Amino acid sequence: MAFENGEVSKEQLLHAQAHVWNHLFSFINSMSLKCAIELGIPDIIHNHAKPISLSQLLDALQIPKVKSHFVYRLMRMLIHSEFFVKVSDDEEERYWLTPASCLFLRNAPLTVTPLVPLILDPIFTTPFDHLSEWLASEHNYLSPFEMAHGRKLFELAGQELRVNELLNEAMCSDARILTHVLLREHRQVLEGMKLLVDVGGGIGTTAKAIADAFPDMKCIVLDLPHVVGGLEGTNNLTYVAGDMFETIPSADTVFLKWILHDWNDEDCVKILKKCKEAIDDNCKDKLRGGCRKVMIIDMVVDVYETDNNKAMETHLLFDIAMMSYINGKERTKKEWAKLFFDAGFTSYNITPAFGLRSLIQLYP
Ligand SMILES: C[S@@+](CC[C@H](N)C(=O)[O-])C[C@H]1O[C@@H](n2cnc3c(N)ncnc32)[C@H](O)[C@@H]1O
Repeated sequence: MAFENGEVSKEQLLHAQAHVWNHLFSFINSMSLKCAIELGIPDIIHNHAKPISLSQLLDALQIPKVKSHFVYRLMRMLIHSEFFVKVSDDEEERYWLTPASCLFLRNAPLTVTPLVPLILDPIFTTPFDHLSEWLASEHNYLSPFEMAHGRKLFELAGQELRVNELLNEAMCSDARILTHVLLREHRQVLEGMKLLVDVGGGIGTTAKAIADAFPDMKCIVLDLPHVVGGLEGTNNLTYVAGDMFETIPSADTVFLKWILHDWNDEDCVKILKKCKEAIDDNCKDKLRGGCRKVMIIDMVVDVYETDNNKAMETHLLFDIAMMSYINGKERTKKEWAKLFFDAGFTSYNITPAFGLRSLIQLYP
């Protein structure tokens, strides 16, 4: 296909040019959102309790009037990307929140605000500068992240408190949304369990919510020492510092949320074999429960029957992100099935229970 000899129409040429501009500038979407969150615009509008005009927004932001037009343009961008809406067009524009910007209210129970400083921190964006170099050169780096920082992600988190905190806070915010849906819509999948171990459970947000909702169930959070060291459990929640590649405490249910997409296939099979040992051991124990299973919460890329272009784009973005941070991967149904059977499991079912993520229940 050549543009120069007229094989392609003028419309196609200009459409292709616009497509290129859109992609090259699409990082401005993220950065405009980051700017609005850093300025606290969602909270200002929320605290105003009704649609806010540009001049009221400037007052609340304590931004001088000479910058009014810049804030107007930032808001125009964020209206286009559906983080705010313009509710009246009379004398002055007024802005209101959308469901997406409500997720950025700092003190809201389901806030996702901690994702912003994590995903857009240079520690997490720099690996993408190394992607082509990582792909093209011969080296022993497992990921562009390791190439950029000389260390693997969880190693760096173990050495730098700021990175550890960024990761744990972001994971907590996701866990709050997920458990909100899990406990309201899919509670039955947890019923009858006696002992659940949340492997790589971070600082325990998911396990705490489950332990509170099921006081007769015992929950264990297994994570690396720099994550769980010094954390206090409750009467039915215990923290264990350890390495899931070594041992997973025995339990009737092993819970893996956002763990397997961090690892390559070989490591996933190792983790799943350890999970199987944990539920097999439990079967030999007196603790024997009725629901021996592994519960995985992760994306299943092709789980949707219909074409959903936006969902596919999110899956693909996550896939490249996991590849770049940690040599992980988002998987299709077939890829998941191979891991399960390679690890010795006999059956599984997939429920697209959490929007873009699925609940996979895996049986020995
Ligand atoms: C992406 S986070 C997911 C946290 C939590 N499951 C959630 O979704 O909110 C991955 C977690 O795995 C933990 N992790 C990494 N390597 C581990 C290992 N070898 N043993 C136990 N936990 C590990 C990390 O410390 C981190 O808390």
